[in-house]
Amino acid sequence: MMITSKELAQAVSKRRTFAIISHPDAGKTTITEQLLLFGGVVREAGTVKGRGSSNFAKSDWMEIEQKRGISVTSSVMQFDYDGKRINILDTPGHEDFSEDTYRTLMAVDSAVMVIDGAKGIEPQTRKLFQICKMRGIPIFTFINKFDRDAREPLDLMNEIEETLGIETYPMDWPIGMGRQFLGVYDRFNKRVALTHPADPDQPYLPLGDDGMVAGDNPIAGEGEWQDTLDGIELIEMAGTEFDEAKIAAGDQTPVFFGSALTNFGVKTFLETYLKFAPAPSPHKQDDGTAVEPLAPEFSGFVFKIQANMNPKHRDRIAFVRICSGEFIRGMDVTLERTGKPLRLSNVTEFMANTRENVETAVAGDIIGLYDTGNFQIGDSIYTGKQAVKFEKLPQFTPELFVRVSAKNVMKQKSFHKGITQLVQEGAVQLYQSYTTNDYILGAVGQLQFEVFKFRMQNEYNSEVIMEPLGSKTARWIDLEQLDPKMASSRNMLVKDRNGDPLFLFENQFAENWFKQKYPDVKLTAKL
Ligand code: G4P
Repeated sequence: MMITSKELAQAVSKRRTFAIISHPDAGKTTITEQLLLFGGVVREAGTVKGRGSSNFAKSDWMEIEQKRGISVTSSVMQFDYDGKRINILDTPGHEDFSEDTYRTLMAVDSAVMVIDGAKGIEPQTRKLFQICKMRGIPIFTFINKFDRDAREPLDLMNEIEETLGIETYPMDWPIGMGRQFLGVYDRFNKRVALTHPADPDQPYLPLGDDGMVAGDNPIAGEGEWQDTLDGIELIEMAGTEFDEAKIAAGDQTPVFFGSALTNFGVKTFLETYLKFAPAPSPHKQDDGTAVEPLAPEFSGFVFKIQANMNPKHRDRIAFVRICSGEFIRGMDVTLERTGKPLRLSNVTEFMANTRENVETAVAGDIIGLYDTGNFQIGDSIYTGKQAVKFEKLPQFTPELFVRVSAKNVMKQKSFHKGITQLVQEGAVQLYQSYTTNDYILGAVGQLQFEVFKFRMQNEYNSEVIMEPLGSKTARWIDLEQLDPKMASSRNMLVKDRNGDPLFLFENQFAENWFKQKYPDVKLTAKL
């Protein structure tokens, strides 16, 4: 049944849809589990994912796949907390890091950046951050593992500001670290939260107007407390104001300290996050206009397609972010790319450990459509007469490349069919060498190649030969400036899916050499 516009507005205003951006091992899984615990979705920690996935050898991807029954359901986790409906979109980060990870960030309204307090900003965090920055979405930061020796908090703040170019606003400040991690000075809630309160029912000490707690030396560690007060004084002097408009635009990030493993600080984080995280926002169309989440007609776009690796169940799931209106089971929509009608009857919504058949979902939610090959990444679907075409998803520059060919030259047809379909799913990108038209695949993570090879054989009966080309820097060049003589052994000249030329440089040295040799040639990086 259709809901009224008032009910739609109420439902949409409750949605909070976000992803966690982090480098492997920073604690994303641990935090996710804590959040699900608060949401009452799981009863014990350690149930979200097969643990130790960081230890998988690259060739062990089959094992990852065997766990995919779990990982599909953990692709999107939904729970209710404090009157809000929260959707956490998973961003695979270990060997399964891929373009899907990037594209997932196109489907969220805000991001949570988790940083290991001992390591600071790491490469994967930086890459994912850049996409959030490009989208101008709010980013909330949780600095984790303060129960271990960590870097100085000021040093971490500086690093975030300098390497990421975003202003920080510490919502709280740690009192000690490692074994002496006594708690946090919570500026925002005007209290001190203790890791080991004398009375477990009294974990908070209120802060007076003078910014101090009442009584003589109420904090166990005098030195730690003094350091905290000094730190607070320094950040107060720096004068950064908490600025909601800046947060909304992604120009300021509220920062929290804690320890996910000991479940310290995660709840405060969640509750504060929910106060400031945005409800679903309008989504841009190709023509520059935006679709409002409360528009009465349904619309959404496909941001990820996940194939089932089990040959017995060769279905795929297309993940759709709903951008406006309400989804109703069995509804007819139009697929914008083809203009053809489609009925959405076989749909799933994602709960942490069960795949429940969804009846309705609204803007901000994610639905999974069982797909037999109708959808492509970036497809828009909509109801009503007015066509909706969402902005194209950006292409992310792969860093690893292989040359690929069919082992059996008599089987070119299935080889081409397989490549075309798998490239459509977007896990790998296809290039061709400029002159010989050899196929070259590019991916963000090595695992994608192995999955590709396996699926070519299993689904398309096409055995492929892959010749690794290693890691390369891809740089596009204007066709007018291109001279095929520019290609050398250190910079392969290839064309992308649109036929646009680019060089794959061996390394930074090769790129610099090229720039010196052709100073007038403009080389561009895509994301
Ligand atoms: P990820 O999803 O970001 O990759 O990280 P994950 O949560 O799996 O955490 C990576 C490792 O860091 C895990 O240890 C986890 O227990 C630990 N960890 C997470 N949060 C904290 C924290 O606040 N403090 C400390 N000290 N450790 C933390 P592991 O040994 O790799 O896994 P496990 O065998 O303990 O499960």
